[in-house]
Amino acid sequence: MNSTVEQIYSSKVASGYDRSMSHFFGKFKEKAFSNSRMKEGDVVLVFCCGTGLDFPHILHRIGSSGKITGVDFSEAMLEQAEKKISKNNWNNIELIRADVTDFGNRLNLVADIGVCTLGLSIIPDFKSAYHNLLSNVIDKGEIIIGDMQLASGWKARLNPVTIAMAKRFGGSYEGHKNSLELQSMMAGTLNDMKKKDFFLGSYYVCIGTKQ
Ligand SMILES: C[S@@+](CC[C@H](N)C(=O)[O-])C[C@H]1O[C@@H](n2cnc3c(N)ncnc32)[C@H](O)[C@@H]1O
Repeated sequence: MNSTVEQIYSSKVASGYDRSMSHFFGKFKEKAFSNSRMKEGDVVLVFCCGTGLDFPHILHRIGSSGKITGVDFSEAMLEQAEKKISKNNWNNIELIRADVTDFGNRLNLVADIGVCTLGLSIIPDFKSAYHNLLSNVIDKGEIIIGDMQLASGWKARLNPVTIAMAKRFGGSYEGHKNSLELQSMMAGTLNDMKKKDFFLGSYYVCIGTKQ
């Protein structure tokens, strides 16, 4: 166990995770995926997949001929994902236990789409994680990132509240601030990047095409 975040997700957070998160973030996730160009048969790489809350939204679009590879370093979160997969008889999902900052290009440019939701803002080395996601996605493939961020303008008054809420899941001021730097990186590495804000500017979704 080498990080605070790893400790958080090896604890009780995993078993109660869906109860705390699915209702709140479900609608943002649906919105993100419905704006994607994900289609029947696509191969989708999901970094920080956790318990697999993104999976139903993705499967809805890629169908049974597509494939999902979910990556996460938490055994407890992956166990919850595994339960969901068996219960729903999803047989086109593979789970890999790994640190996404150290994943390299293991899938070697085979994914059509790379996804990471509520992951990069809790990873200190989010830059390596983002580069690894990019390096496994085909040229002109799509990248979808959804995460917490620092809100600006009058909405910034909300930041202490959202950061306090996110703390239980590894969130921090630094992490929310890093999202702004990540968005600049995305703007420099993706074409046609579109950003949409939700939850009074505290959550964003960016979708773009790998150059
Ligand atoms: C807030 S949860 C998000 C799960 C899922 N994407 C969702 O939206 O519900 C964050 C997940 O990121 C994983 N995670 C954090 N840092 C990671 C890393 N460096 N490598 C792999 N997984 C990581 C945690 O184990 C946890 O499952």
